[in-house]
Amino acid sequence: MNELQVVGGQTEYTDRNGRAVFLRSAHLSDGEAIWRWRQDMNLDFMRATSSPTLEEHMAWMAAALKSPDRRLYILEETVVTIEGAPCRKSLGHLRLDVVGDGVGSVSSLLAPEARGRGLGVTALMSIEKPARDAGLRILIAEIHVGNSAALRASVAAGYTETDRIGDFAQIVRELYPQAIVSTENPEHPT
Ligand SMILES: CC(C)(COP(=O)(O)OP(=O)(O)OC[C@H]1O[C@@H](n2cnc3c(N)ncnc32)[C@H](O)[C@@H]1OP(=O)(O)O)[C@@H](O)C(=O)NCCC(=O)NCCS
Repeated sequence: MNELQVVGGQTEYTDRNGRAVFLRSAHLSDGEAIWRWRQDMNLDFMRATSSPTLEEHMAWMAAALKSPDRRLYILEETVVTIEGAPCRKSLGHLRLDVVGDGVGSVSSLLAPEARGRGLGVTALMSIEKPARDAGLRILIAEIHVGNSAALRASVAAGYTETDRIGDFAQIVRELYPQAIVSTENPEHPT
């Protein structure tokens, strides 16, 4: 069963495979990794017709981090180093843009090595808590019709296709209030 906990300001999410992942705000220092993951994405699936240089991407990211309507996140898991010490490993990036009253636009990008492990669904579900906290009631996304993994992951995460514009499916997820177990204030779960 899925479970959400807020621990030390980070959202910990146990996905349908019993795997714990963490969602944290992105920093500028995550910018290069995000740019590299993006290089490994099928350009046909993007709205943009060209790939930004690292410098262009970093300038975009610096501006995005300052924007009140844009939130950037990093999804992480705990791995154990060769020395046996636990450490966090980045799995991917999520972007949440406020695009209207109560409406957010979501986009997800997993690191190439994290793809195909069922984490696409986990990533989309993990964004729901911060989206609700931001007062959003509806999440939308645009997915290229050829992007089978993204389409299947979004259906599994509860999104439905409402429209199709050109080669892009418009998908929507309605957010309902959800009980959150907060370890920071267990007396008063939100
Ligand atoms: C799209 C993305 C988030 C999906 O996450 P993922 O972890 O790779 O996908 P999952 O392992 O969760 O698989 C989701 C479904 O797609 C299927 N799938 C996975 N890879 C696939 C592929 N290459 N082709 C077709 N189906 C695929 C899985 O079998 C699964 O189907 P099921 O739920 O019916 O079993 C990830 O691949 C990614 O970041 N891609 C690059 C960026 C991108 O395309 N983002 C989406 C645009 S917003």
